[in-house]
Parts: sequence; structure tokens; C-alpha cells
Amino acid sequence: MSTKIRRVKLFIYFYYPITQKNIVMQVKRFGVSLEEELLDVLDNLVKDHHFPNRSQAIRHLIKKSIVEEKWEGNEEVAGAIVLVYDHHKRGLQTQSTSVQHNYHSLILSVQHVHLDHHNCLETIAVKGKAGQLTELADKLIAIKGIKHGRLVMSAAE
Ligand code: NI
Repeated sequence: MSTKIRRVKLFIYFYYPITQKNIVMQVKRFGVSLEEELLDVLDNLVKDHHFPNRSQAIRHLIKKSIVEEKWEGNEEVAGAIVLVYDHHKRGLQTQSTSVQHNYHSLILSVQHVHLDHHNCLETIAVKGKAGQLTELADKLIAIKGIKHGRLVMSAAE
């Protein structure tokens, strides 16, 4: 490693957190015009999802839309793959481990919970390009014997 590269790294480690602390998120108010029907939909959303107010619901919708765009644009994202399976099913765990090793660079952690005598719940935290995470999730969910599988999409920041 050359001195030049090392100097860049030191700059990031020591100065980045300080700049981060100085960022103050400003909240701005603005008016929204909506058709009555759409406002009812928003209010139902607030009620159904237990949002404290309309602002929080709108904030949630904007963030959700950003996450969806990142996934569609194959950007760097994070998420979790949730799998439920019967561990007695022959070859299932071997196959799952083999797939996970093929994509090891995307996997942050794996949590395995024994639900009962038969069933296991596995939560795999992942981070990487959206396309690759989808590919990994598809391969795991498609394994014969997986009772339920789902990819939870989130953003990396
Ligand atoms: Ni188990």
C-alpha cells in the first residue's frame, strides 16, 4: 500500500464522523392539495399502519418509493431473505448452504431459529447490487422443500 492511499483512508476515518455530526436535518412545511377521495385513502393509511400523523405517512411513502427505485435501478441496497423449512427434508440444508457459499460476498449474517421439532426459520441479512440479491433470493426460495420464502427489500443507507 502506498503512502498516498493510506493518507486518504485516514482522512475518511477521522473527518467523516465529525462532518456527519454537523449535519442538521431541517424539517420544512409545505401544503399539499389532494382530491377528497385520495385524502381519505391517505387517512386510512395513517389509521391502518398506526402512523402518528399524515406527515409520517407521506414520509414513509416517499422512502418506500426511493427504495423501490434503487431496487429497479440495480443500485447498492440491503435487505433480508426469510426462509421457513423443515430441516428433515433431505438435501435441503446442503443445497441452501451451497447456494449461500456461491454468493458469500453478499451475505452479512445468517440467523437460524428452530421454530418447533420440524420447522426452522432462517433470516439472511444481505447487502449488494439489487439484481444479485434478487438472484440469490430466487435461488434459495426455489429450493425444493422451502415452505415459505421472501425477500424484504430495504435501502443500504
Ligand atoms: Ni432448525
